[in-house]
Amino acid sequence: MAQEKISKLIGLFADKIEESDAILITAGAGMGVDSGLPDFRGVEGFWRAYPIAKKLGLRFEELANPYWFEKDPHLAWAFYGHRLNLYRKTQPHRGFKILLNLPYPKFVFTSNVDGQFQKAGFHPGKIVEIHGSIHYLQCTLPCREEIWENREEIEIDMENFRALNLPKCKFCGRVARPNILMFGDWNFVEVRVNRQLLNFEKWLAEMEGKKITIIEIGAGKAVPTIRRLGEKLRRQMGATLIRINPREPEGGDIPIPLGALSALEFLEMELKKRGVIE
Ligand SMILES: NC(=O)c1ccc[n+]([C@@H]2O[C@H](COP(=O)([O-])OP(=O)(O)OC[C@H]3O[C@@H](n4cnc5c(N)ncnc54)[C@H](O)[C@@H]3O)[C@@H](O)[C@H]2O)c1
Ligand SMILES: [Zn+2]
Repeated sequence: MAQEKISKLIGLFADKIEESDAILITAGAGMGVDSGLPDFRGVEGFWRAYPIAKKLGLRFEELANPYWFEKDPHLAWAFYGHRLNLYRKTQPHRGFKILLNLPYPKFVFTSNVDGQFQKAGFHPGKIVEIHGSIHYLQCTLPCREEIWENREEIEIDMENFRALNLPKCKFCGRVARPNILMFGDWNFVEVRVNRQLLNFEKWLAEMEGKKITIIEIGAGKAVPTIRRLGEKLRRQMGATLIRINPREPEGGDIPIPLGALSALEFLEMELKKRGVIE
């Protein structure tokens, strides 16, 4: 896109930030791409990240399914264990810090299960992880409505895509699974996400009548949870929706057709120029 058009959009983006009383950051898998994480856009995208899944003929929706924890837990944990190890060693890119330093009350709402916002220093009480978190475990049954922190080290034979060890439920000894909402999932333990949602409702109530700007980053259309949320709050609360996405930025108030990191670095530059941040 022409430099001139980008500068204009970044200018509008900065105007909206300056006018805000509060900022809601909403994010999908695209937020992690500049940290080196894969998104799962389309079946081809998923298979690029997991060539072995292509060999097995399994799409994301099929592999991210509680069924495998019963049928073949070593396969299920190869997938989730690999992601766990990957998310643990990943450092959030600088865009997270830029967001963190915006001088406004902030809340994060994400469908990512990677824990990168916490790692970047966002307040855990101001985050909703609507699809759960890979850093927590629950029983596959579940034998009780409880979750616990995932401190397991999972070793994986990547050639055969098998986990070499399996985490167990600390109450009943069955195989444990990540506290992540999967496809066709009736067993997801919701205690943590429900607590987070209460925090979010409280925050929204405090922001009643104030100007909220939503910065949506890297949210796709396949599982449109994040996009829908922004569109709903825009309608219901008159929030402004900034949509950062290099491929599908349309549908909000200001479409920014860039990757997360470069869009946020442009914003930072503009806000520094205006003296909004140092
Ligand atoms: N890191 C994670 O936790 C993770 C990773 C993959 C998938 N998931 C799960 O899979 C589902 C996938 O839905 P989704 O919409 O989050 O992901 P998605 O893969 O369907 O879409 C990703 C979006 O990010 C955009 N994108 C690509 N590169 C980008 C960049 N550099 N900067 C900004 N945007 C970029 C793409 O154009 C696309 O619209 C969700 O349920 C999510 O929970 C989570
Ligand atoms: Zn159990």
